[in-house]
Amino acid sequence: MYKKLFLPILFFSSFVSIAVNAQNNDPYMGIVPAPVSVKKLSGDFIVNQQTVLVADSITNKAVVFLADFLQNKANLIVKPQAYTGQSVNNGIIITSAGADALPAQGYRLLITPQNVTIIGRGAGIFNGIQTLLQLMPLEYGATIKIPGAEIDDYPRFTYRGLHLDVSRHFFGVDFIKKYIDLMAMYKLNNFHWHLSDDQGWRVEIKKYPKLISVASNRAETLIGNYHDRTPQQFDNTPYGGYYTQDQVRDIVKYAADRYINVIPEIDLPGHSKAALTAYPEYGCNIASSYTVSGTWSERHDVFCPSEATFSFLQDVLNEVMDLFPGKYIHIGGDEVAKDDWQNSKLAQDVIKKNKLKDEQGLQSYFVKRMEAIVNARGRTAIGWDEVLQGGIAPNVTIMSWQGEAGGIAAARQSHDVIMVPSNMGLYLDHAQGRLGTEPVGIGSYKPLSMTYAYNPTPSVLTPGQQKYIIGVQANLWVEYIATGSKVEYMILPRALAMAEVGWTPLANKNYKDFLETRLPQ
Ligand code: ACM
Repeated sequence: MYKKLFLPILFFSSFVSIAVNAQNNDPYMGIVPAPVSVKKLSGDFIVNQQTVLVADSITNKAVVFLADFLQNKANLIVKPQAYTGQSVNNGIIITSAGADALPAQGYRLLITPQNVTIIGRGAGIFNGIQTLLQLMPLEYGATIKIPGAEIDDYPRFTYRGLHLDVSRHFFGVDFIKKYIDLMAMYKLNNFHWHLSDDQGWRVEIKKYPKLISVASNRAETLIGNYHDRTPQQFDNTPYGGYYTQDQVRDIVKYAADRYINVIPEIDLPGHSKAALTAYPEYGCNIASSYTVSGTWSERHDVFCPSEATFSFLQDVLNEVMDLFPGKYIHIGGDEVAKDDWQNSKLAQDVIKKNKLKDEQGLQSYFVKRMEAIVNARGRTAIGWDEVLQGGIAPNVTIMSWQGEAGGIAAARQSHDVIMVPSNMGLYLDHAQGRLGTEPVGIGSYKPLSMTYAYNPTPSVLTPGQQKYIIGVQANLWVEYIATGSKVEYMILPRALAMAEVGWTPLANKNYKDFLETRLPQ
């Protein structure tokens, strides 16, 4: 009896003391991503029922977020009060006073036995709150003890993204919010939502209802890995899902309340088989029929460059821009098969009429037409690095996924770049363990150490050109990922390593500390 009780207690208490010692030895106090500057101070701040929350604006969404957190997680009701500039005792003070010199998204966090002070503006305040929450213990009773510290912090890159494909498999609103919660905790500020592909269209467009009634459903899905069986076998089970416009607005607001921008991707002119199943008149292959794809990697069906197609896509992009107020609209541009265009009189006529060199020139022409629609609303288009082929569109931001070459070329042409090289640990659908030790997936081997080691500023660029690298992102394609728990399995912990790549100054990165101390915590 004693033995039975004693052993678990011994084990548990030694575990707790290891965790505390780890935090004591860790220069970054357990914080992910590691901050710019951390100074430990003696003493603790105790959040209790008497603690007051004072802020310049009590309706500031970061302040509301903190008050909600304390109430929901710790049952501590701290109604925000207006900050008058007077000192308060036992207070959490949130103010922009003194924030003028802080870099964008930066904050200063001071924790003493008397007060917690967070100084920042906008996202900076929210980032400071996330650091504060990471300093709280995982378990607490009626009070929360936070260790003393002086932290000055700001991001290395303004753009830190996480992508999710919802076409190959669909994830509902609650899961998307959970994904956004995780992003907020680790200061990731751009959610790239891949809403359309050959295997399903996922966003309601009022003007074109068949994008939902037809394009959001497929008849069946491939069983196992693409290469597992010859011939391939299918599950004979219809699969579908989509977001209503109300659900999209709800998610966009949920993200904005956490200072996360949502970037919708409508992938054009390739990866469009689902849309073409609903509206075959915008394809080059009207004679043959299209079906929403139930297998992966087969992408020959592209939009045909007719004026009717451009007008359809203009309507679609305009509805998308009504739903998504952010700066960026992703227009795809990857893996555009050229055979449909080679065999299409209409496409060949467009090439001749516009004096384009070839199908690559036509791709460039197509992307430029799409970019103009986005720019007309004051927005910026993002394209995958293939949009460099045949001449880059004038204002496009490049997402470099086929290694870094596209990003390097774009930066040399003074275009903004987001680095997502698939071969350097930023494609989180790739296996994180050795071959044979992982569930069914796309394969490859991209361990956590590789993601962590990535540096988004290639040394072949001059410091001036490196300024065009605005950030970094990790992508999750979901051909082989059908459930939320498998999404989490694949992104964790590599998304946290990517968060540190995007936020932490190079000089502060330390894989041993990240892996052995902060990650377990
Ligand atoms: C991509 O992975 N096709 C962007």
